[in-house]
Amino acid sequence: MKFFLDTANIDEIREAYSWGVIDGVTTNPSLVAREGGDFVERVHQICEIVEGPVSAETVSQDAQGMIKEGRLLAKVSDHVVVKVPLTVEGLKATRALSDEGIDVNVTLCFQPMQALIAAKAGAAYISPFLGRLDDISTDGVHLIEQIVQIYDNYPELGTEVLAASIRHPMHLTQVALAGADVSTFPFKVLRQLVNHPLTNSGNARFLKDWETVPDNDIAGQVQRWLKARDN
Ligand code: G3P
Repeated sequence: MKFFLDTANIDEIREAYSWGVIDGVTTNPSLVAREGGDFVERVHQICEIVEGPVSAETVSQDAQGMIKEGRLLAKVSDHVVVKVPLTVEGLKATRALSDEGIDVNVTLCFQPMQALIAAKAGAAYISPFLGRLDDISTDGVHLIEQIVQIYDNYPELGTEVLAASIRHPMHLTQVALAGADVSTFPFKVLRQLVNHPLTNSGNARFLKDWETVPDNDIAGQVQRWLKARDN
């Protein structure tokens, strides 16, 4: 499962990317508004950091406007993915942009047939929002399972399931088990993925015990050992 970071914050992207586990970035108008500054410059900066798909969302509500914005955004970097909402106009724009070879991420998906129709329109990614379904007491993970199953039934569609609106590591476990191709989540969730009290206490214990070893300089020991071996 690919990991995308769901943020427009440059510091978070730079830090997360340095961990070597981030395959791409997704943004949306709310995330961009939170950061302020120039949108296009921000998209460009993100594309300079991340060697992978970077979703940038259109805001026009009609297909022609989305197509125009999408074509322009795609000029910012060849790894920009144009994000459009799952509306009739969004579907028309998806078809037009994907026919031109521009990858489209169709967003705000809340039911399986929306995912199927977006795939038929040529979407490169479908973004079901599972956290927002959970928020209204509906099973968001089940939606991911259904979409994965439907897409598996029709492999010629070629659309990747991008599980979005992820709120915590348990969501990630569940969508990985369901077979989502990609998940996008905030930096906070990335940090939670590696944070386990038993890892931390185990690491502290190893260090404490290592301090009792008389010659505990590993690099120095290896260098001396190599020298002795090569003599
Ligand atoms: O970027 C789309 C999605 O991940 C938003 O998540 O937390 O605002 O529901 P959230």
